[in-house]
Amino acid sequence: MKIATILGTRPEIIKMAPIIDEISKRDIEQVVIHTGQHYDEEMSDNFFKDLEIPTPDYNIHVGSGTHGKQTGLMMKGIEEVLLVEKPDIVLVQGDTNAVLAGALVASKLHIAIGHVEAGLRSFDMTMPEELNRRVADVATTMYFIPTEQSAINLLAEGFSHKNLFITGNTVVDACFRHLEIAKKRGFEDESLAGLDIDNLDNILTLTMHRAENVDVKERVVNIIDALKELSDMNIIFPIHPRTKNTLENFGLFEELNNLSHVHIIKPLGYLDFLLLTSKSTLILTDSGGLQEEAITLNVPALTLRYNTERPETVAAGGNILVGSDKDSILENACKILSDEEFADKMKNAINPYGRGDSAKSTVDAIEDYYSRGLLNIEAPEDIMDSFTRKMASIKEDISVAEFEQKENALIHMVFDGENMKFPFDDLNLNGMMITYDK
Ligand code: UD1
Ligand code: UDP
Repeated sequence: MKIATILGTRPEIIKMAPIIDEISKRDIEQVVIHTGQHYDEEMSDNFFKDLEIPTPDYNIHVGSGTHGKQTGLMMKGIEEVLLVEKPDIVLVQGDTNAVLAGALVASKLHIAIGHVEAGLRSFDMTMPEELNRRVADVATTMYFIPTEQSAINLLAEGFSHKNLFITGNTVVDACFRHLEIAKKRGFEDESLAGLDIDNLDNILTLTMHRAENVDVKERVVNIIDALKELSDMNIIFPIHPRTKNTLENFGLFEELNNLSHVHIIKPLGYLDFLLLTSKSTLILTDSGGLQEEAITLNVPALTLRYNTERPETVAAGGNILVGSDKDSILENACKILSDEEFADKMKNAINPYGRGDSAKSTVDAIEDYYSRGLLNIEAPEDIMDSFTRKMASIKEDISVAEFEQKENALIHMVFDGENMKFPFDDLNLNGMMITYDK
């Protein structure tokens, strides 16, 4: 079997590293394709070193540009590689332009697609990420999903539960493994040297890069106004290149940089950054990955957004959505600093993203599909001429697997009272309402 992995931005490298590592331990050929979307050393190369994975086999060097240009160049480059390499499955991760490009190209070449971190939905179609992940899911063969809630999003869109694998998130694998390494090694980045982080209290780690925040001056001004008033905190801000550009263009960079409690530094490598976040009192972010890492590391997070495709973190109590609202940022940050009970509750929120064995479950599932011939994409022989769904109220002890076998049916949705449930094979359906087709 041959697996091709596509990546291209900082979070894709971090979240695919555990899978690349897992594949390399098995008798599987692999090829890694870098789109080149992130190209600065501190946004790309440094992560291959910190995460101890080999340099990619191909780099398409798309660089920066508009969405159309970037996606188009990626499609061209990925297609060329896939035609030569002919993998059995292509893995894409998350919601970047690489996910869209990779899924479109692979599906038209009739190559199976595995979407890692599938099923997340912000329900905000103005976000490029929401469009990317939704379009990719239409073409996906195997869905590797962090939580039951995200799996339910996909069921609601009509995808068969047979192809949905609830694996947890590989960010937990990366986080657990590399925090230990980072602790042994200590801080290395010279931009942290002068700050004596080990002896610093009240650290607030700040990251922001979402287009809907940093490209809108009013939002950036509100956030900076809140930061000005958080002078009891030591704010460490490893700045994303997009944000550096926009702050400079808005003429706000110097104003923020001149605040004595705000330390703007270049993006950190993974080990330094994990160590920094683990020592933080509070994380203020609009990053997706950081919302997940915060709850994994037991650090309270305030998210600079009005919605999140990671609602599990909010429901668990570890994350609060503060948008770009100055009062909400200040009120919640001050409460975390001053109210120990409130802060402890946030810290003790249960991580919903698994135990750190997500890469193993993902590669196990791929090997299983490969061995059963399910990665071969062929046109179906008989296509249903209409869309049918039956409903039933189940009044006997029968599991999902037993029902499906007995009725030769596929269950789509399961309702336990008002709540939708994932149709795990061993779920007892007694007392539940289901939809299915035969
Ligand atoms: C991209 C992803 C976003 C993800 C983020 C992770 C899409 C649509 N967006 O956003 O989902 O959360 O990566 O960080 O795929 N730049 C550099 N050096 C680099 C890379 C970028 O200077 O190495 C600058 C360029 O000016 C570029 C800007 O950052 O125009 C934005 O980069 P881009 O790749 O378009 O999107 P991100 O904001 O990084
Ligand atoms: N990260 C890092 N160094 C930094 C900032 C972030 O290593 O200076 C890591 C962070 O630990 C997380 C990932 O980058 O795993 C998040 O990437 P980003 O916020 O760019 O993208 P998103 O997750 O929002 O797509």
